[in-house]
Amino acid sequence: MNRTVEVDLAKRSYRVEVQPGLLESVGRFVQSLPEVSSVAVVADSRVAELYGLSLQDALAQVDAPASMIPFPAGEENKTLSTCQGLFDKLFALRPPVDRSSLIVTLGGGVTGDIGGFLAATALRGIRFLQCPTTLLAAVDASTGGKTGVDHEAGKNLIGAFHQPVGVLIDPRCLRTLCPEELRSGLAECVKHAVIRSQDLLRFLEDRKADLLACNEEAMTELIAANVAIKAGVVAADETEQSLRAILNYGHTFGHAIEAEVGFGNMTHGQAVALGMVGANRVATDRGMLSSSTADRVESVLAGLGLATRTEAPDPDVIWDRMLHDKKTRKGRVKLVLPRGIGDVAICDDLTRSEVRAALEYLSGE
Ligand SMILES: NC(=O)c1ccc[n+]([C@@H]2O[C@H](COP(=O)([O-])OP(=O)(O)OC[C@H]3O[C@@H](n4cnc5c(N)ncnc54)[C@H](O)[C@@H]3O)[C@@H](O)[C@H]2O)c1
Ligand SMILES: [Zn+2]
Repeated sequence: MNRTVEVDLAKRSYRVEVQPGLLESVGRFVQSLPEVSSVAVVADSRVAELYGLSLQDALAQVDAPASMIPFPAGEENKTLSTCQGLFDKLFALRPPVDRSSLIVTLGGGVTGDIGGFLAATALRGIRFLQCPTTLLAAVDASTGGKTGVDHEAGKNLIGAFHQPVGVLIDPRCLRTLCPEELRSGLAECVKHAVIRSQDLLRFLEDRKADLLACNEEAMTELIAANVAIKAGVVAADETEQSLRAILNYGHTFGHAIEAEVGFGNMTHGQAVALGMVGANRVATDRGMLSSSTADRVESVLAGLGLATRTEAPDPDVIWDRMLHDKKTRKGRVKLVLPRGIGDVAICDDLTRSEVRAALEYLSGE
């Protein structure tokens, strides 16, 4: 089975293909691109070990030399200094990298963001192809063209919009993911469902056992449905002037909680799951969202193995983090609030007392 989603961005349009076993066909795709002089595969150490050889085999049929440039796995390595090391390796390749070279990213969102940033900036921009290997990267990070790295002052503060030439997703790669990483991606799927699609929410309810077991057919459907939602939003608002902000549902609380517990102590998706519960609480307190719909979203999250309660983070610290979020303007904290499944509003008048009430709810008080 295979699914294709078009990302409609005029001259920058591309396709996202989802198919079990697709990793073997990466060579065919690269061969179909105009004039590829050389290929550099950016992969983190763990993914390079798991799938590097298969990808290199697939690239053997390409009429251009291919090299691996690995970097150490982990969000803590999503930095300019890792990029520096990768640039050193990239510019040492023979034949030298040129404007017709292609970067292939093989890995999770960290790899896609770093490899995409390398492609956006090397020689003022070369092409790149995304081969995501985590569910989070498959359903979210690999489509949309946001690339970049973290800075001590915050996540994703350095970066560029740079669209890939394609995204090839092989759901078989997800079988080696640890359960926490799988659930992390499922949280972003719940996000897409709440902001855009009743059908997707129902799919997550009906097929949760298959999804948690990484059933190929269910995963292929899930990934394609999510990519279609993300592609639709990105096509309408590529650089986040308006609509694209709805993708931040769950992320205002989520980022603050993630930073508070310390990156690496909680997956991003788990923090977003808690963030969605927090945002829903604000929405029910405002009378925008029915309690039964909020309860339904919590049940879906719990059914997928995500926690919906957490030890009480200090509301003042969380509020402070929200005020300093890069998306906060003039002290007005933005929050995406659902009115129902598939219907959200963007508000910029969140108050400290609403945050306090939501956190009390999250801590089970
Ligand atoms: N660009 C965007 O639009 C966008 C959107 C969402 C998230 N992101 C970024 O994505 C990052 C998070 O992505 P992530 O959760 O994929 O993290 P990640 O890339 O760090 O991957 C998580 C872990 O899984 C391992 N891994 C990857 N694929 C595997 C596989 N198939 N089998 C076994 N292990 C595997 C990795 O080595 C890593 O240790 C964050 O930095 C976030 O900012 C970007
Ligand atoms: Zn996210």
